[in-house]
Amino acid sequence: MSVTDPAEPGTPDPGSPAATAPSQVTADPQAAAAPKAGSDPPSVIDPSRPIRPADQPSRLGALEAAVRARTALVPEVGIVLGSGLGGLADDLDEPIAIPFADLPGWPSATAPGHVGRLLLGRLAGRPVVMLQGRFHIYEGNDPGLVIQPVLLFQRLGARIVVLTNAAGGVDPAFGPGTLMVIADHLNLTGRTPLLGPNADDIGPRFQDLTDAWSPRLRERLHEAGRAEGVELAEGIYAGLLGPQYETPAEVRMLRTLGADAVGMSTVLEAIAARWAGLEVCGVSLVTNAGAGYSGVALSHEEVLAAGAEAGPRLARVIRRFVADLPQS
Ligand code: HPA
Repeated sequence: MSVTDPAEPGTPDPGSPAATAPSQVTADPQAAAAPKAGSDPPSVIDPSRPIRPADQPSRLGALEAAVRARTALVPEVGIVLGSGLGGLADDLDEPIAIPFADLPGWPSATAPGHVGRLLLGRLAGRPVVMLQGRFHIYEGNDPGLVIQPVLLFQRLGARIVVLTNAAGGVDPAFGPGTLMVIADHLNLTGRTPLLGPNADDIGPRFQDLTDAWSPRLRERLHEAGRAEGVELAEGIYAGLLGPQYETPAEVRMLRTLGADAVGMSTVLEAIAARWAGLEVCGVSLVTNAGAGYSGVALSHEEVLAAGAEAGPRLARVIRRFVADLPQS
């Protein structure tokens, strides 16, 4: 797929949200020069330019200021809610909801099933930040934008991030409704958010990814599952670019490579979260058997329906996981 015009690297597709969102994103130097009230420092956000690691600190400064203009809550945990898993947002007490379009440089999320809000509040009494909806590369978004939410979590004070997603089952034993704790990942997107000049004050040039998916937090997720009577599997998540689903041959290839589930998100966020020093864990909600296993065509509606069925189970596990975290 092509998300960029080769003549102008980083230019979003004309129909992509990054190109059309009525947000603070502007290519107009006049408009960009006028600082937006409440955003400090003012930054020129040019959607035609890729976002490099070295660009992140000033952008995060503007995002942090926009959040701090609305709430002083310091989250312990950041949670990314995947397709159809937005229900956990309803469990938030005293929520502050900020639409993506109100955050500098963020286009409104458009993937069906993704609302597009940043939420701060209390979950089981603990301060958390949630991303309801996320940015995908397949929407034409720059990898540097895809990771900004988790970098923002860290800026706001979070030390732990929980990444959730909808996924196809690559292990034939993982049918619809399986909840899989992510033990490790395969980044098969062909992208990295760490390309270009580094921001050493966020993280190192050469990021280690051994134990990227925290053994300690994985065990805590399993404990939360046991406490809630919810069965949790564990396995390897393969992140692909999408947006097309895989061919049956690709699913067999992924199995050979060691994957247990496949999806179109999460891996860049995990890389960036580790880079920023966050402890990472996550759960895939298997919404369908991988292409070729069941003999029926895959559809986004099926993915959303399975998310609606299994989402509440996953929500219980995450709520318990947060509630039982040791006080820091
Ligand atoms: N493949 C890729 N991504 C997905 C799938 C799938 O089968 N199901 C839900 N997200």
